[in-house]
Amino acid sequence: MALPDGISRETFLREYWQQRPLLMRQALPPASLPLEADELAGLACEEAFESRLIIERGPQDWELRHGPFTTDDFATLPEAQWTLLVQDVDKYLPGAARLLEAFDFVPTWRIDDIMVSYASDRGGVGPHSDAYDVFLMQGPGRRRWRLSFHDYDDKDLIPGLEQRILSHFETDQEWVLEAGDVLYLPPGVAHWGVAEGPCMTYSLGFRAPSQQELAADWFQHLVSLTSLERLGDPRDLASDRLAELTVGLHRNAAALMAALPGPESEEFRIWLGCYLTEPKPQFQILPTDDSWDSQRLENWLAQGSDLVRHPFARLAWSPLSGNRIAMFCQGEERLLPERARPLVRLVSERRRLPAAELAGLMRSVPDVHALLLDLLNDGILEAGAKECCNGKLNR
Ligand code: SIN
Ligand code: CO
Repeated sequence: MALPDGISRETFLREYWQQRPLLMRQALPPASLPLEADELAGLACEEAFESRLIIERGPQDWELRHGPFTTDDFATLPEAQWTLLVQDVDKYLPGAARLLEAFDFVPTWRIDDIMVSYASDRGGVGPHSDAYDVFLMQGPGRRRWRLSFHDYDDKDLIPGLEQRILSHFETDQEWVLEAGDVLYLPPGVAHWGVAEGPCMTYSLGFRAPSQQELAADWFQHLVSLTSLERLGDPRDLASDRLAELTVGLHRNAAALMAALPGPESEEFRIWLGCYLTEPKPQFQILPTDDSWDSQRLENWLAQGSDLVRHPFARLAWSPLSGNRIAMFCQGEERLLPERARPLVRLVSERRRLPAAELAGLMRSVPDVHALLLDLLNDGILEAGAKECCNGKLNR
């Protein structure tokens, strides 16, 4: 993706990411946003896709419908002021998955999904703010985006709606986006997109777990590690104050808790990697029936054929102590020697793994072979079909 002149990848991460909006005019070739409106409607009729229709009946009157939809649902929509949204299109459409490569300058493990919307004239989802970063990519058509830097809270929402829409909005900045323009918004910046004629928008959304979500999972994990050791009595018992919870008793209780791993521990690092790469339940990856052995892998790469990552795969890695690293995928860890780092980086940063690069790594690092076979047999890597230029459904 073309970042604006004067904004390097480093500048973007340091000065914009999670901090302030950035409008990037003509950052993407419009051909990289490959879906037609009818195809999007087709996806919204399928069970596998989470889809929504949002219809604006009046400024404070919004209707939300959940898919899957039928062609009749579309035939009976009003002329204007509605939007169709489909989540996770990158999981099934190679063209949309390829679009993720354009965003290789932000933390990859945060990526949640690409949502595609089609809006009829004056359609939109209403003014709101999101709890996560988003890149709004303008597909065909034009959309006016208004931003507000005001701090809104729950009192500012239209009451009684399933979706969170602000009842009022103070515009601080305003832009009309055309096909190929991209608008980056950090979490919490209120925005309001209104289609000027029918238009399509692709949103790359990120994940941002709350402190509450992290704590719930970590404490549940801690519970799974605990022993059956019990709280013992201290030496400072006083025979005349037998109801007192003494200083010594508090010390004993604290020592029991302190024996649990803390957030500085390696246990925590490994848990965090697993937690952050946990897929949505519908995006588990099953091991392949199409088994791989060394000979097949070598032949495959010798022909110059690439490997690709399964589109459901969520990957990350962390350095560990003792010259080891942990690779995380789909909520599970693999503990590996430090020398596996170049392969782990390649697999977790890139969607397509070029044959020549893999063959080079196999020659220089002894364990790469076994790890690649493991990832292929687990279904996390797959034989790459030749890349073609359209983004049509390939399932
Ligand atoms: C849309 O595509 O209409 C919604 C995107 C957003 O506001 O986050
Ligand atoms: Co939004």
